[in-house]
Amino acid sequence: MIINAGLLKQIPMPLLSWYDREKRVLPWRQNKDPYRVWVSEIMLQQTRVEAVIDYYNRFLKLFPTVEALAEAPTEQVLKAWEGLGYYSRARNLQKAAQMVVSDYNGIFPKTAKELLKLPGIGRYTAGAVSSIAYDSQEPAVDGNVLRVIMRILACDENVSKDSVKTEVEEIVRGIIPARAGDFNQSLMELGALVCLPNGAPLCEKCPLAELCEGRRQGIAEQLPNKTQKKERTIEQKTVFVIEKDGRAALRKREEKGLLAGMWEFPNCVGALDEKQAKEKLASWGISGEMSKLEGAVHIFTHREWHMSAYFVHAQGTKDAPFVWADEKELKEQLTVPAAFSAFVRQLKAEWRKRK
Ligand code: ADE
Repeated sequence: MIINAGLLKQIPMPLLSWYDREKRVLPWRQNKDPYRVWVSEIMLQQTRVEAVIDYYNRFLKLFPTVEALAEAPTEQVLKAWEGLGYYSRARNLQKAAQMVVSDYNGIFPKTAKELLKLPGIGRYTAGAVSSIAYDSQEPAVDGNVLRVIMRILACDENVSKDSVKTEVEEIVRGIIPARAGDFNQSLMELGALVCLPNGAPLCEKCPLAELCEGRRQGIAEQLPNKTQKKERTIEQKTVFVIEKDGRAALRKREEKGLLAGMWEFPNCVGALDEKQAKEKLASWGISGEMSKLEGAVHIFTHREWHMSAYFVHAQGTKDAPFVWADEKELKEQLTVPAAFSAFVRQLKAEWRKRK
């Protein structure tokens, strides 16, 4: 990569002044408690700020300290994560909390190197936590930061390559000022508010517009260069919302793979017609009245579920391989991922009608 050191040196001052004026007020910016910073960074992985805020506030009320999180029942931690997705983050969060309590006396390690030993913490998160909580001069390069730096440098190298990410980390490391946490967050903030993805930078609002080489050359919108993502596979599914005496049939997913260990409505592969659906129900030992529900689509990173659905008012449930959850258990205990929330909603509407 061709590195213009003179250009890079000019970034911190105007960017930090801009950040001081324009930064969003966010709950994890209230103080530098490393526990709070860490929880926020894990939640913000692959998830938008607006989606995180309410979860974050609720999570910290439930688990205000690393000890509280370490000691909580895992089911309760997963329940607090319900709807956020990427549930392994929640499991790793709790495992890491347990390590901080047992191996570090409840005090978060300060260096990125030590933080990297904790489950769920990669290079980006280690840099973010150590810089934001402790002002360690460590880079924290996420997708936003990659975009900002590549545009400023007018560099079209492929940011999907790990070698390029490493180079950008070293570039950032070379310019981090004493206010390391604010600086890293100012780069992220610029990427989130001004140097927007998908060809839409708001250069007229940018504190770095004067020095941005990508803008000067008129190529900022085309950057960064990255490998196109693989197309998602589409899976047809049929979901059964089976109800009996105020309880709904749920089953636990396998402990490995997509949505591992989460609770779900019974479902199967394929878009079943009514006859096939009845046969499927019979194979589970379920009989009863069946009606069509509104379907739903859920998009994961690498696949899409296109779901059709039936509501079943069950009469016979002989030996059915399910647990039967009432409304309170569904609300307070069992973690049902967002992929099924359209059906939870329809089930609750059905229960309300019957009351
Ligand atoms: N995305 C990841 N970390 C962030 C932070 N600390 N502030 C805003 N957006 C972020």
